Amino acid sequence: MLPSLLTPVPGPHSRALAVELRAHESQNVTYVSPRFPVFWEKAHGANVWDVDGNRFLDLTSGFGVASLGYTPPQIVEAAQDQVARLYHAMGDVHPTAEKVALCRQLSQLTFEQWQLGPGKVILTNSGSEAVEAALKTAWLATKRRGVLAFTGGYHGLGYGALTVTGRELFREPFAGQLADFASFLPFPDCQHCPWLTTNREPSACLPDCMNAFLRQAEKLLEKRTIGAILVEPVQGRGGEVVPPAWFLPLLRALADQFGALLIFDEIYTGFHRTGRRFACDHGNVQPDLICLGKALTSGFPLAACVGTALVMDKAWPESTGEALHTSTFLGNPLGCRMALQSLELLETEPWSERVEALGNHLRTGLLQLRDTSKIWGSIRGLGLMQGIEVLDETGQPDPARAGGLIEEMLARGLIILSGGVRQNVLSFTPPFVIEKEEIDFALGLLRSASSLPSE
Ligand SMILES: Cc1ncc(COP(=O)(O)O)c(C=O)c1O
Repeated sequence: MLPSLLTPVPGPHSRALAVELRAHESQNVTYVSPRFPVFWEKAHGANVWDVDGNRFLDLTSGFGVASLGYTPPQIVEAAQDQVARLYHAMGDVHPTAEKVALCRQLSQLTFEQWQLGPGKVILTNSGSEAVEAALKTAWLATKRRGVLAFTGGYHGLGYGALTVTGRELFREPFAGQLADFASFLPFPDCQHCPWLTTNREPSACLPDCMNAFLRQAEKLLEKRTIGAILVEPVQGRGGEVVPPAWFLPLLRALADQFGALLIFDEIYTGFHRTGRRFACDHGNVQPDLICLGKALTSGFPLAACVGTALVMDKAWPESTGEALHTSTFLGNPLGCRMALQSLELLETEPWSERVEALGNHLRTGLLQLRDTSKIWGSIRGLGLMQGIEVLDETGQPDPARAGGLIEEMLARGLIILSGGVRQNVLSFTPPFVIEKEEIDFALGLLRSASSLPSE
């Protein structure tokens, strides 16, 4: 459903809510556009309505969560049924059948599917906590405190997850309290080669960049103090950065050689977002631990760390009564039920094929868009996780222009977010139910943006 051709107008209800929120919520949590405050009221499919009745096309899936679109009837029904029966239990003392079923299902979809035996699960309330559960597991299993992580990587903002997040923007204000167990290596971004080898054809630089990375990684890992290598198979908030094909297999080989565990953070990329069930399935590389969240539930704050039973049992001793790792809402039955229903929907349709086809359509449109103005830079991504850089007149990253475009698009009915380490990437992660016409509509609006310079 295309957004109304009538331009959305900032309305009194959103404006009033913005004032009230500003008075009562801490600063630096919610950014509300002063020009066009938007407060959501309802959403269906790929469309969102605000409290003033404006309709928007959402190209973000609400941070990558609503992969199946908003409010699919099966999930609404399952949630309503669960709410009426049981929406809280004692997850680590008297849990529910829903939690059992979800753990089983997550094992089946990951390590069993990869024929690596059963997986075991730690459920959490957020992606950040799932990463922290994986870090704790790696420490308990290896007794090595070091973690190898990557520049540009985003793993969440809790202190544990922030310690391994490679973004100065988030780290710097808290640097005085961050632990020092993470070492960062450059993420191989071919469009901004950290080893400056891409002045040539990408294939010509292959041995150089791989060897440059290998030398740095071996130097770190040889000390045998690193217990985990943590990576996003495709960087999401880092700006849809897809590493070259050698990268994940090399990490797998290095982890095996030096006795570290390999953790894939697939919180963003998981569940068909990149055109495979998991992004690591593109290259057929499997981790020891995988972190999942976002689309897992379609919208309930629940995430998971899944590991091979071998690793999990080595790490976590049998409980003697007091759990070593838990939280009040662990394995919330409503979240588990929504996850089970989401997984059923995610598994019963060929979403990966649709995502791949729509992703190609979006990418072709972005390539055409790039030809229309010099402000458009590199295009990157996989499946329905695509990004395009916004540049200034001299070809440098232009976060202010990216921000201006996002504001202008909002005022024309499109919800887009920016990402990337330089905050200059327009990110496209729409719901899988989006139609080609809606993608074309969005690209048409971008092409005619008034904030583009005349060429
Ligand atoms: C790859 C990745 N890991 C972890 C997180 C953190 O998840 P949450 O915001 O649920 O804590 C995010 C959030 O965007 C993410 O993209």
